[in-house]
Amino acid sequence: MTTVGILGAGGMGNVHANHYRKMPDVDLVVYDVDRDRRAQFADRHRAGTMESLEQILDRCDVADVCLPTDLHAEIGVRCLEAGRPTLMEKPMAASTSDARRLIEASRESATPLMPGQVVRFFPEFATARRLVLEGAVGTPAAVRMRRGGKAPQGAGGWFKDHTRSGGVLLDLAVHDFDWLRWTLGEVVQVYSRSVRMSPATPETVEGDYALTTLTFDSGCVAHVESTWLDPSGFRAAFEVCGSDGMIEYDSRQASTLRTVTEAMTRAEAPLAGDDDPYFRQLRGFLDAVRDHAELPVRAEDGFAAVAIAEAAIESCRTGTPTIPNAL
Ligand SMILES: NC(=O)c1ccc[n+]([C@@H]2O[C@H](COP(=O)([O-])OP(=O)(O)OC[C@H]3O[C@@H](n4cnc5c(N)ncnc54)[C@H](O)[C@@H]3O)[C@@H](O)[C@H]2O)c1
Repeated sequence: MTTVGILGAGGMGNVHANHYRKMPDVDLVVYDVDRDRRAQFADRHRAGTMESLEQILDRCDVADVCLPTDLHAEIGVRCLEAGRPTLMEKPMAASTSDARRLIEASRESATPLMPGQVVRFFPEFATARRLVLEGAVGTPAAVRMRRGGKAPQGAGGWFKDHTRSGGVLLDLAVHDFDWLRWTLGEVVQVYSRSVRMSPATPETVEGDYALTTLTFDSGCVAHVESTWLDPSGFRAAFEVCGSDGMIEYDSRQASTLRTVTEAMTRAEAPLAGDDDPYFRQLRGFLDAVRDHAELPVRAEDGFAAVAIAEAAIESCRTGTPTIPNAL
């Protein structure tokens, strides 16, 4: 049995736990600073409740960090220093300096660290990448991506505080930035403009809506639209144009099931349990740790995605193109 320690019993902690519960070789323990949340989580998922970070690190074999983004580095470093292989929800950290701290802790303790870039496990995104690499559309030239819906809240509304979440560029576009780099190679230039509708302090520019242009080493360009201003619900879409053709995807067109209530609209294409992207991400992490094999997503890739997001935020701040930080 592997005991997985989930840190953070909120939205993503529950999503992860639902998938771990389908794995007969996994036991769960949970720690959340909020006593009621951790008790409800423990009931719902038959998990052991831990009273402190020290206690959960003592009890677990691997750590799964589902905490607000600004806490990833501080608590992730503690998990790695304790020698616990760590899955870190995306974005891996709030900045490249924080992501670097995590990678250094992973290297120094020789402990695996995997960023939760779950879009790589979505069948449409994985297949589109494979088709691009196989040359199905010839030489890739221009990509358009769109992701977003309503603004997430989080416990105590932490997503709205962009100094904690990084706004749409760090929290949401980081998915597309990672997929683009995974598919098209290194990014050499970033230009971004954003709009903020939620209350801002004068020094924050991280937006609720952003348009970002990436230029790749290959000469390819990509345009990424990221929004928390779409009340109609979540939608992800892309279009990859190459010298010989185009691949396109729209989650709303692909959905076979749509649930509408006063509170929300949810569109989904139900998958077999073990085809679910979150299940495949978590299983891939656990299997790689057990087999001492290469992780499905490298920590360095999590760093690079954060670096592109950070460059985009900087571009919004300065109004000029920027270059992502290197590790
Ligand atoms: N991969 C995805 O699709 C996806 C989707 C949503 C969120 N996320 C990411 O997952 C992470 C968590 O987001 P969420 O939506 O679950 O947030 P959330 O607010 O729902 O959950 C966070 C939990 O952490 C707890 N917490 C806060 N401070 C703590 C501390 N010091 N020690 C222990 N517990 C503490 C809170 O009480 C809360 O229960 C974020 O980094 C977010 O960007 C990823």
